[in-house]
Amino acid sequence: MVAYQIYVRSFQDSDGDGIGDLRGVGSRLDHLAALGVGALWLSPIHPSPMHDFGYDVSDYTAVDPVFGTLGDFDALVEAAHDRGLKVLMDLVPCHTSVEHPWFTERPDFYVWADEPNNWRSAFGGPAWSRHGEHWYLHSFYPEQADLDWRNIEVVHAMQEVIRFWLARGVDGYRVDAIDRLLKDPGLRDDPPATAPFGLPVPEDSAALALTHSRNAPDIGTALAAIREAAGDALLVGEVYLPSPLLKPYLEHLDALFSFELLHARWDASELGAAIAGMPDGRAAWVLSNHDFGRLATRFGHHNAGAAALLLLTLPGLSFLYQGDEIGLGEGPGGRHDRAGRDRYRHPMQWDATPRGGFTTGTPWLPLVDPAERNVAAGSPTLRLVRDLIALRPRLGDELELVEAEGGLLLLGRGEHLIAVNTGDTPLPLRGAGDPVLESEPGAAAGGRLAAHAGAVVKR
Ligand code: NOJ
Repeated sequence: MVAYQIYVRSFQDSDGDGIGDLRGVGSRLDHLAALGVGALWLSPIHPSPMHDFGYDVSDYTAVDPVFGTLGDFDALVEAAHDRGLKVLMDLVPCHTSVEHPWFTERPDFYVWADEPNNWRSAFGGPAWSRHGEHWYLHSFYPEQADLDWRNIEVVHAMQEVIRFWLARGVDGYRVDAIDRLLKDPGLRDDPPATAPFGLPVPEDSAALALTHSRNAPDIGTALAAIREAAGDALLVGEVYLPSPLLKPYLEHLDALFSFELLHARWDASELGAAIAGMPDGRAAWVLSNHDFGRLATRFGHHNAGAAALLLLTLPGLSFLYQGDEIGLGEGPGGRHDRAGRDRYRHPMQWDATPRGGFTTGTPWLPLVDPAERNVAAGSPTLRLVRDLIALRPRLGDELELVEAEGGLLLLGRGEHLIAVNTGDTPLPLRGAGDPVLESEPGAAAGGRLAAHAGAVVKR
């Protein structure tokens, strides 16, 4: 299926405070149903001081008032289910906010040291901050203290959280930063790097072989505990590791995000290698999100249709980030996120009015270009996305990498071929029959694939 990522803060405001909320999400479910997606993933909605916009949780079993109430949440789950949409929440098990009561009441829930080692935070800088006499570990911002998953009480507490939301009807979780759950118990320094990590990391992390600060060899024990609590619910892992290291995570999780694809350039051979590197049938395909940028900006507006075609014709689970269906690009950003990610998080554009139908108040981040791009006006990209999602079930399960060079990416999906031209000249399409769906009219006419275009064709 296709899962639609809702960055709640920027999706739809219902009360005029300029910040999206759960009632707002509920009011836009028809859009998701019309797109034909099978699930929605809600970015974190729990009470939080919002230093990392909800990824710094201060209460795992409540809803932050800015997003609504538990009653609003229940109503949203029911309304989504009525439309056949599954609901995925964002589970943040690696760290809590330093304002979570556990941080003062249960210091043994966290990772402490007398002296910091050389581990670096994901945003650059040391992964340790001082608190009283000791230092606590934070793999991300200092406001996000790492939980100690070697403490069985932490494991049990998080299992309760998982069960709490499942009992309210949630269908699964996107699990945050899960490669950071278990690290070296002896807190040994990361050794100097001898080879590139394989995914983009800040400069200070790139100088190290990131072997002790994450992905401990016994990670399976923590994953098994999560699976035990989740039962059959869908678990999609955010594992920020190169694909050869993903195996232990697949033993307990259903699907893992394709970070190599998310970071690939718009180049047939890079895209092909990233796709082939993911474990068969277990990828959660993704080309954009709230951390790493928007599809239309990364690849250029002229490639956005072909990129959507690629994303939505890959087998299994694909994640579509809100706004990508109308080709929304990145905006100027703001001063909210210290890591500079505001520019990927501008509000959804529902109509052509200055506030884009997102809010009646002052939006927390300005709209990018509602007059040019919005859902109400429709667009070729929006029609293409709907058509692709409708076609998807007919493509079967297999995926074969037929060709990935000279600007042509050719994937086999049963009796269909998916063809994408990443270059700026037309290319011959050998072995292709009639077009079934094209990123633009005539893209695959006359045995050639137009520049910047994609097509699903019969073999
Ligand atoms: C990944 C989330 O997507 C990102 O937004 C967040 O900053 C980190 N994990 C830490 O929770």
